[in-house]
Amino acid sequence: MSPLTAASSASASADLTVRGIGRLLTMTGDPLADAAVVVRAGRVEWTGPESELPGGAPEAELDAGGACVVPGFVDAHTHLVFAGVRRGEFVARLAGTTYDGGGIRTTVEATAAASDAELLDLAAGRAAAALRNGTTTMEVKTGYGLSAGAELRLLRLIDRLSGRTPVRLHATYLGAHVVPAGRGREEYVAEVLDTLPAAVAAGARWCDVFCDQGVFTVEEARRILTAARDQGMGLRLHAEEIARTGAAGLAAELGCASADHLEHVSDEDARAMAAAGVVGVLLPTVTLSLRSQAWGHAAVLREAGVELALATDCNPGTSWCESMPYAIQLACLAMGLSVDEAFRAATLGAAHSLRLDDVGHLGRGAHGDLAVLAAEHEADLVAHLGGPAVTATVVGGAPQG
Ligand code: NIG
Ligand code: FE
Repeated sequence: MSPLTAASSASASADLTVRGIGRLLTMTGDPLADAAVVVRAGRVEWTGPESELPGGAPEAELDAGGACVVPGFVDAHTHLVFAGVRRGEFVARLAGTTYDGGGIRTTVEATAAASDAELLDLAAGRAAAALRNGTTTMEVKTGYGLSAGAELRLLRLIDRLSGRTPVRLHATYLGAHVVPAGRGREEYVAEVLDTLPAAVAAGARWCDVFCDQGVFTVEEARRILTAARDQGMGLRLHAEEIARTGAAGLAAELGCASADHLEHVSDEDARAMAAAGVVGVLLPTVTLSLRSQAWGHAAVLREAGVELALATDCNPGTSWCESMPYAIQLACLAMGLSVDEAFRAATLGAAHSLRLDDVGHLGRGAHGDLAVLAAEHEADLVAHLGGPAVTATVVGGAPQG
């Protein structure tokens, strides 16, 4: 399964020489010291020691000032298009209530009440915040529509958002986010199944289901994802966030590109994921925001040999966060990833979860997408809590902002 996903139409295709790189992570080999990058027509043409910079390198230059440069972050899981906040739910959680997914309906109402222009402005603002934090590729789910018409509206808005941000967007249909208020679950699952062809036509190359306790069952998820695969969609799955339901095993059975969350994944299911090549998407800002203290699953997945990705899960209920550096910090400090593991998960691993081979690294021919860190070394980004993380982001060879 290798869905071809359209890159954002606003992404640039420029020539650029990046000099003054104190430390360069390409993700294709060992870190380079005192390096440079040449981007031509939006693609990486050359990386190496600056002293060996080839003649004829582009005149347009960016001086990294001795900082560490990494591939642009790939945020593998977001719910970027929504209106409203969930203040009451959040404050109640601080007082001890437990998340059960019910608040999604609050966001569905707020999103329905917002105009297209308002939703686009809100999502574009979030994409801009992500870009400032080094994100250059982002998966974006629907899921706050919850009727065929409202979900397709969100897909059309994601498509229009591509014209408003240089971030490369990849759309996922998540009609099966929660059973909408006042609808029967059988009837709603049937509607999700019926909507798949229109979702593909509206730009969704991926399908996802929130398969968890109190939401959609493993059997419902199997029906939806099997039908989505028949439509040529790639498969992702919200799995084992609230409780262990066997969703990760389903992801392995179906060969999903990713299973995401996984706080309650079992050793056995993790091994099945590894054998099936399912990437495990870690969402540490969710664990923090839910106050669940479920930090152990990263070690379970690592032990089983699952490739790891990182994402923000940007959404109003469980992770109001556009910052991949913050996710990296938590992945290291709370989940126990090494700095190397976290940066790999935030770039190459996340790209693999989206079946993309031309982002998440700076090998020759990759998109010229990179982030200049506000640090000389990637470990310093992890250590410097609350500090600025990224000083410049480049997409397709074009410095942003
Ligand atoms: O990834 N888990 C399901 N969806 C989101 C939360 C959505 C919400 O609560 O609004 C998540 O955590
Ligand atoms: Fe999510």
